[in-house]
Amino acid sequence: MPIGFAPNNGRTPVALVTGAACRVGRSIALRLARDGADVAVHFRTSAMEAEAVAAEIRGLGRRSVTVAGDHTCPDQVATFVRAAREALGPVDVLVNNASIYSKTPIRAATAAQFRGFLDANLMGPFHCVQAVLPDMLAGRGGLIVNLVDDVRPPTGYVPYGVSKAALVALTLGLARELAPDVRVNAVCPGAVLLPGDTSEERREAILRKIPLGRMGTPEDVAAAVSFLVFGSDYLTGHVLTVDGGRFLG
Ligand SMILES: NC(=O)c1ccc[n+]([C@@H]2O[C@H](COP(=O)([O-])OP(=O)(O)OC[C@H]3O[C@@H](n4cnc5c(N)ncnc54)[C@H](OP(=O)(O)O)[C@@H]3O)[C@@H](O)[C@H]2O)c1
Repeated sequence: MPIGFAPNNGRTPVALVTGAACRVGRSIALRLARDGADVAVHFRTSAMEAEAVAAEIRGLGRRSVTVAGDHTCPDQVATFVRAAREALGPVDVLVNNASIYSKTPIRAATAAQFRGFLDANLMGPFHCVQAVLPDMLAGRGGLIVNLVDDVRPPTGYVPYGVSKAALVALTLGLARELAPDVRVNAVCPGAVLLPGDTSEERREAILRKIPLGRMGTPEDVAAAVSFLVFGSDYLTGHVLTVDGGRFLG
């Protein structure tokens, strides 16, 4: 049966958060630790930042390690999941946060670029799921949370959007196929941390379309992930949108 991690059930979950050195992933790792998880902080290139996150988590009295690898490469995924397991125990909660994002107008996009988005944003999470499943299906249960995006890609972002829409489909399919042992949900942030080169005009245009009148924060997203881990064990196949109403249109 799926395992809920309600605060008082006496079980400390082990969470693996991919891409957890910076930005949204960092906030998710810290929030899960604050709420009661031991956390493996995954990174690919941001080693120092990841170590700082792990140190902060240890400062909270929780166990934490950093693990490294490219999640598009199954061998590297197997290695970093094994490293997390050896240090902290079997992974109970996988948060597929690592991702790539960039403007790719479809008229100029190459097949290699399109494949790159699918590799990073769909196949990477798939490899991570496959690596943690044996433990989750061996009687422990587990939880997977995928970080997705609106399934209607904005102009200029079709390859990214398609890769994330496919991750939504993966979430829904896995939720059905892995129940009742493993719960699989997604969190869909709205505008949280825009790329550094976003113009002020674009930022203001986005803000005007957010009914709640502000950008989201990484902490808003982390709170939603934590709710799926600790707040309810009766959710699966759910996409929790954290967008201040932006996607209402
Ligand atoms: N930011 C937003 O406003 C927003 C909006 C909607 C959805 N989201 C979703 O929320 C999640 C977090 O967003 P974010 O903006 O914080 O993400 P991000 O900064 O774009 O990426 C997070 C991390 O992914 C890692 N990564 C990229 N390619 C990888 C690979 N091949 N293998 C392993 N790791 C890889 C990088 O780790 P290293 O630095 O260690 O290389 C990077 O720091 C993403 O899934 C994103 O799609 C974000």
